[in-house]
Amino acid sequence: MSSDLPQELYVRDVRIAPNLILAPMEGVTDLTFRRLIRQIGGTGLTVTEFIPAEGLRRDIPKIREMVQFDADERPISVQVYGRSSEALAEGAKIAQDLGATIVDFNMGCPSKKVCAHSGGSALMKEPELARQLVRAIRGAVSVPFTVKMRTGWDVQHKNAVEIAYMCQEEGAEMVTVHWRTRADLYGGVRELDTIRQVKDRLKIPVIANGDIVDYESAMDTLRKTGADGVMIGRGAIKNPWVFKQIAAQMRGEPPCVVDTDEREMVMLGYFQQIRDRFQHDRGALGRFKKIAKYFTHGVPYGSELREGVLHAQEVTEAIEVVHRFFDRLRRYEAGGANPFLGPREEGLVIPEESCGISAS
Ligand SMILES: Cc1cc2nc3c(=O)[nH]c(=O)nc-3n(C[C@H](O)[C@H](O)[C@H](O)COP(=O)(O)O)c2cc1C
Repeated sequence: MSSDLPQELYVRDVRIAPNLILAPMEGVTDLTFRRLIRQIGGTGLTVTEFIPAEGLRRDIPKIREMVQFDADERPISVQVYGRSSEALAEGAKIAQDLGATIVDFNMGCPSKKVCAHSGGSALMKEPELARQLVRAIRGAVSVPFTVKMRTGWDVQHKNAVEIAYMCQEEGAEMVTVHWRTRADLYGGVRELDTIRQVKDRLKIPVIANGDIVDYESAMDTLRKTGADGVMIGRGAIKNPWVFKQIAAQMRGEPPCVVDTDEREMVMLGYFQQIRDRFQHDRGALGRFKKIAKYFTHGVPYGSELREGVLHAQEVTEAIEVVHRFFDRLRRYEAGGANPFLGPREEGLVIPEESCGISAS
């Protein structure tokens, strides 16, 4: 039986179907990762990692690279962040001119570096500044404009309802709310009431975000919040098939089962794409490790694969580790002796991570 919950939504005239959105993740959701997710399928909208508006304005090549997307990546949302009205207006306009379907404003990043300059989630403490910035972006672009936030700065200052309402008044056309406060970083106790209150107060679509990893957690979140859709971040690095699986179950079909061959093929194919994209093997190896840290949590005995990749000194060594691991796993699954030393772990943990590299 298919789900009785909504399966698509519109941001003005932009159709998001299914209503499953890939979260923006700095250092992860670049063009290569988004291509992987789109090839597998099941997501209705992809979002770039956050782009400093000031960098776009100054035309810094590295920043311009972050904003790249494929011509057929539609709809695509480009997320900008910053704390200057002028830079945000100009950066948002550049994103629009580059072809963004939607421009999103980051009001949720907990990173010290971003918050120290009143950006990201620190804006939730400064509603007047937040209003000015939202107004500046709204005035600069004609494409749909959306905002992503947390539920507040900390538990004493949970003001997502007021901030989201202000965004709507200023012309935002969708808001995404991550159930954590800034103080929660990536811990805290799951609390969906605030998102429910945001949904009850607003007319524009509301997206719920935080710890969604499968059909059950997606449906539970939609039911408890009444949200129009969900956004998935770390769950998609651990399991890039998550959107396809949830979408199938929403239609009343069984989720696709991912076998060992497919996991290996996807991991190696993705690694190869990273390698082609990075000019230096050092950069490619760093990115491999970042992704492997999550991806291996979805693989049986993945801790051995993780350790192997994390200790690799060269890209070729990391690729060899992947080959060897999956060969052993295949032999074991075919009835051979168990070659693994540790206990079987499989997809239970989502590593905590602060908002991207700059958070550390
Ligand atoms: C590595 C990493 C980088 C992130 N970068 C961004 C970002 O650039 N912009 C943003 O709005 N949120 C960013 N986030 C937050 C996610 O978009 C999302 O709100 C958060 O991870 C909670 O969702 P999840 O539990 O599905 O991962 C990042 C999170 C992670 C783990």
